[in-house]
Amino acid sequence: EKGGFDWFMRKEIHEQPQAVADTLLGRFDADRRLTLDEVRISEAELRTIDKIVIVACGTAFYAGLVAKYAIEHWTRVPCEVEIASEFRYRDPIITGRTLVVTISQSGETADTLMAVRHAREQGAKVIAICNTNGSTIPRESDAVLYTHAGPEIGVASTKGFMTQVAACYLLGLYLAQVRGTKYGDEIATIMRELESMPAKIQKVLDAQQQVLDLAAELVDSKTVLFLGRHVGYPVALEGALKLKEIAYLHAEGFPAGELKHGPIALVEQDLPVFVIVPPQGRDQLHDKVVSNIQEVRARGARTIVLVEEGDHEVEPYADVLIRLPQASTLLQPLLATVPLQVFACELATLLGHDADQPRNLAKSVTVE
Ligand code: BG6
Repeated sequence: EKGGFDWFMRKEIHEQPQAVADTLLGRFDADRRLTLDEVRISEAELRTIDKIVIVACGTAFYAGLVAKYAIEHWTRVPCEVEIASEFRYRDPIITGRTLVVTISQSGETADTLMAVRHAREQGAKVIAICNTNGSTIPRESDAVLYTHAGPEIGVASTKGFMTQVAACYLLGLYLAQVRGTKYGDEIATIMRELESMPAKIQKVLDAQQQVLDLAAELVDSKTVLFLGRHVGYPVALEGALKLKEIAYLHAEGFPAGELKHGPIALVEQDLPVFVIVPPQGRDQLHDKVVSNIQEVRARGARTIVLVEEGDHEVEPYADVLIRLPQASTLLQPLLATVPLQVFACELATLLGHDADQPRNLAKSVTVE
């Protein structure tokens, strides 16, 4: 049942190329227009939307943070992302022109469900991004966009996250098409790049031995930091969450630019610091992140740098280089997340923990 893997989690990590491909499949009509059949909200209504609010918990929340960057860039509609358990208790500003997007692998998370009910009571339209057919959240929403990850057994979400990110990209592109933003014309190009991602994810998996060795080296760590900027920031948060969830290791993710405003005080000799580097040349943040790597290294950190192939600038400052296939900035999370998942799974294994059933956690939490 685990297909030769020791954990469902490890199996699910390896299923990610297929899961992402399946989530992207069949979204074009004969005229190469993006169609999201399940999104039963009229195009006229989607054109009146003046705000998008993404609501989710845990890993799904981080998928939402990635989505914010893509959705705002492509649609120019303001997009907020909120932890579901915080949402309805603060009297959020929701109107008939707000589009609420929930993200939930299980479709049963009570915090997210309560947010759906609250949003609809305020007259908002709700789209559920969900992996479980017929579950409660899609049933109570106006529309659903299914991820096609297949069943996810490991409590810590992996392929769930990756397909949520992919589905959010589809939703963002679809809204750009419907609303006729300038990116509406680039959809075919962006979709082609998206469709190339499963093969690139596979390449990252094929190179995982290095990450397994790294976990063995770092098995005695007490704390691990993750730094990123732009979409690399939510990836950093997700990398840290995975370590907390299954390796019971203290870990924090920070926006790299915020380092100097506090977290750099944590850096001491041999502290492992993972850094996600934005694509070189095409991205203005690249050089700033390279400086951040130098800053933590000068203070003794052991730098583990996730960087695209062909970027040699970081080499002098990296103790470990994890190479990623090239991708545009917005799509890089589909690659950069993978080594962090592999690292957490391996570290949990080496520490003798059950990677599939971490202590104190449940796959879906049906109480608020
Ligand atoms: C938590 C799980 O309780 O719920 C996390 O332990 C998960 O792994 C989160 O990300 C959200 O779950 P769902 O099903 O709503 O995506």
